[in-house]
Amino acid sequence: MAVISDHCQDIKVTLVDTDIKKIKAWNSEDPSRLPIYEPGLQEVVLRNRGNNLFFSTDIKNSIREADMIFISVNTPTKIKGLGAGYASDLKWVESSARQVAEHAAGHTIIVEKSTVPVRTAELIEEILNRSQMESKDIDKKTFSVLSSPEFLAEGTAIKDLENPDRVLIGGSDKKAIKLLSAIYTRWISEEKILLTNVWSSELSKLIANAFLAQRISSINSISALCEATGADIQEVVKAIGSDQRIGKKFLSPGPGFGGSCFQKDILNLVYISRFYGLEIVANYWEQILFINDWQKKRISTLIIEKFFGTVSNKKIVILGFAFKSYTNDTRESPAIQIVKDLIENGARLYINDPKVSAHQIEKEIGLKEMEIDKISSGSWQFASDILFSAKDSDAIVVVTEWNVYKEINWQELASKMRKPAWIFDTRIIFSKEELNCLDINYWQLGTIKD
Ligand code: UGA
Repeated sequence: MAVISDHCQDIKVTLVDTDIKKIKAWNSEDPSRLPIYEPGLQEVVLRNRGNNLFFSTDIKNSIREADMIFISVNTPTKIKGLGAGYASDLKWVESSARQVAEHAAGHTIIVEKSTVPVRTAELIEEILNRSQMESKDIDKKTFSVLSSPEFLAEGTAIKDLENPDRVLIGGSDKKAIKLLSAIYTRWISEEKILLTNVWSSELSKLIANAFLAQRISSINSISALCEATGADIQEVVKAIGSDQRIGKKFLSPGPGFGGSCFQKDILNLVYISRFYGLEIVANYWEQILFINDWQKKRISTLIIEKFFGTVSNKKIVILGFAFKSYTNDTRESPAIQIVKDLIENGARLYINDPKVSAHQIEKEIGLKEMEIDKISSGSWQFASDILFSAKDSDAIVVVTEWNVYKEINWQELASKMRKPAWIFDTRIIFSKEELNCLDINYWQLGTIKD
């Protein structure tokens, strides 16, 4: 929305939320207090805030004033009730639609931005139309519902929004489609705007994420095979990625994918497939999640095995807690499972991340900083100084591929560690030559030591 405001100075963009704290943070004078860390976002917000970009809790009046409303609420996986563990919870979409039905005035275009199961637009339409049938207002309101899912990735959001591969608009109301296209074409060429029916648009979002996640699980499964056979995953990636039909992108092996979307969207796809009786299709896509869980688990197991089956009381430094670099988002981060497993086995962890706070880590793993786990006696604390934390440590595990870790003086770091010490590189950020020079044991994903 901030990027829309940036390109369309004549359009007033208001972001509304029920969370007063969040809105306050977006309105904060201190730019470091904006709730999301995203390269380039701060500049866009500061450039437009107060001109044509506003953050507000006044949902009622903002809806009344709006000609177009983007529903961009969370659609997490349901934790209870029908479809629990798989289906998306649409309660926020539904309540947004009800608020729009109540407060809108005249004709309003509703754009579904949240990732939603196929046919959610139907639910929104039903709520809006029903409300009108039951309404006693003389001034009838009218609505058009479009789907226009978002394909940006965290960490590169502004770049992705500025120059997207494509923009999808699903719907049947030609006038509404024209108005939405007219916003995007202020900075995106018309050929990139794909018009589809509403269900294709909703489904394409899920499938794009499923295909991306599938590539990661595929390459991660092969990383294990490389370790077993002596092939080198980086060489395999180069060899297969050079085939233009396969392509080079999204083939980086790692500790498993995280983030708020891949797992949720695949669970949703599995649920929809089962709902339509397509058990084989559901089972096929579910395998991607099995491999992903297995990859995280196999890394923590492997670390414990390298210490002959116990990490009890071992000092281990974890480098990175965000689910990828250039974000402070930790949702479904592979670090969560790896850290939990090591603490469960009694390790003392020192966790560093350039953008994630100790409070956020605490929330994700459910154990307070410096609190001793009652069963395993494991613990964790935040490590702001990597070199200091490395002193007498038994292992360093790289979990997120932050650039700062690539610049570490490993010779110096390794010299501080208690021998025999280990480095575990789950993101392949070091060259083997660099690691071979260190007086230290190392394990790198997808390769065996020379
Ligand atoms: C993903 C999609 O890439 C976006 O197109 C989509 O809009 C977004 O989900 C969404 O649905 O909101 P995001 O989760 O922000 O974006 O980040 P990605 O760059 O896709 O990374 C996801 C996870 O896969 C990260 O944990 C990352 O480290 C991992 N990954 C990615 C790999 O392990 N290897 C790769 O080659 C690429």
